[in-house]
Amino acid sequence: MNQAADTLRTWLVHLHDTGRFHVAREGLGLRFEVAAMSDALQGQSATLFPRPDGGDVPVVSGVLSNRRWFAEAAGVEPHELLGHIAQATEAPTPWLEVSPDEAPTREVVHEGSDVDLTRLPIPTRSELDAGPYIDSGLVSAADPDTGAQNLSIHRIQLHSKDRLGILMLPRDLAALFRAAESRGHDLPVAISIGVDPMTELASQVVARRGAQELEVAGALRGEPLRVVRTNTSELRVPADAEITIEGRLRAHRRALEGPYGEFSRYYQPRALRPYIQVDAVTHRRDPIYRTIFSYSVEHLLLGGVVREASLLDRLQASTPGATDLRLTIGGSCRYRAVVKMQVQNRGEAKNCLLALLGLHADIKHAVVVDEDVDIDDHTQVVWATTTRYQADQDTVIVANTLGSAIDPSTDDGLGAKLGMDATVPSDRRGRFTVAFSPHAYDLDVRRQLQSGAAAESALRDAVGEPAEPTGT
Ligand SMILES: Cc1cc2nc3c(=O)[nH]c(=O)nc-3n(C[C@H](O)[C@H](O)[C@H](O)COP(=O)(O)O)c2cc1C
Repeated sequence: MNQAADTLRTWLVHLHDTGRFHVAREGLGLRFEVAAMSDALQGQSATLFPRPDGGDVPVVSGVLSNRRWFAEAAGVEPHELLGHIAQATEAPTPWLEVSPDEAPTREVVHEGSDVDLTRLPIPTRSELDAGPYIDSGLVSAADPDTGAQNLSIHRIQLHSKDRLGILMLPRDLAALFRAAESRGHDLPVAISIGVDPMTELASQVVARRGAQELEVAGALRGEPLRVVRTNTSELRVPADAEITIEGRLRAHRRALEGPYGEFSRYYQPRALRPYIQVDAVTHRRDPIYRTIFSYSVEHLLLGGVVREASLLDRLQASTPGATDLRLTIGGSCRYRAVVKMQVQNRGEAKNCLLALLGLHADIKHAVVVDEDVDIDDHTQVVWATTTRYQADQDTVIVANTLGSAIDPSTDDGLGAKLGMDATVPSDRRGRFTVAFSPHAYDLDVRRQLQSGAAAESALRDAVGEPAEPTGT
């Protein structure tokens, strides 16, 4: 367990202590301004926004905006991250239930007419968004028959002081709601805002049947997650969350939701969708509001690394030579996959492409590169794709396949898939000897540099003394 990633707060302190934390000036605007600042600093630092719009509750963003930070929070090496996620998904760790007195998220309780969501500092992200959206809410709901809980992040629109719109794509939460609705029942839900990094990551896992993402969070953390029963239902939620919103997805009720700028950076239009009636809001005495802006790097990576782990695991079943996989940020961490592969036999890279393109409808472009290519380095992947690839021989195109319905270039989801074999042909390796400087890998660059007066004097020696200014 990495203690620094125990809660959102410990992680913020850790980022601060390691030079990856900025504090914006007080009072930035929740409408667009906070998002623009957050975008500018993402990948380098988290940003805290004190008194946004003059309110009391600070906003924080960018806390997982770099791929390496995920491994760091998990307490593993970067190359171990995907294996760690696959293992945690296979073997969850039971949660640890604590009493409400021991749960910071229950320090302050608002119920009934005291509920007022407009007091939360909920930012507005994109120009044409329908308004403020909660974008980091981890939604818990339970299977009414088995009690097994599901956890997933959803875009949640602020409709009024006690009502929230929600988008549920046809996955687990939507299925639970359909089942409750078919019996004429509302579905109790709880929304946790501001949790530890591994619990945010666990919310993106497709858990095995009967397993619970809150327990996958425990396995990712290497220590059970502390949970507490909610005030108004049987649901268990992260006890250390900054804020918890409790309510019910109303059966057979719909309200207009959207438009909203989605992860793909295109707007999804307004439509009638289910909504949540809020019954209680509980929070820490001095809560911090966590936001994960749509199409920010952390939004893309949160969904991306979990998908990478499951895709690599499944790909290796048919392609044991595949050693690593990335869903690129440019491909919205959904649509474009790059695989590193040790090719043993001719044609094997193309088989790998066919397998990968079929593993998930969202994967639209796939590239296979050799083991010597750094798949985290976009420039190296493009270099391999130009110098080891011939379009007429190394391309796989499959027309009329099921793709992503929200990719606007598809015909309502029907589209083409493209595979590029950018590996060196095994019968022509001699033509692909890569040039490099033998010291490139063992040189300690910093120790070979001069600084201060010595560097200045070397510069003077090289360029001569500055000429006297000439004047008239
Ligand atoms: C920041 C963020 C926002 C998301 N928004 C939505 C959303 O609005 N609707 C949705 O269905 N999934 C959304 N997702 C994806 C789901 O949270 C994710 O696919 C999850 O694993 C689904 O879980 P489930 O299959 O248990 O329902 C979002 C993910 C992230 C990281």
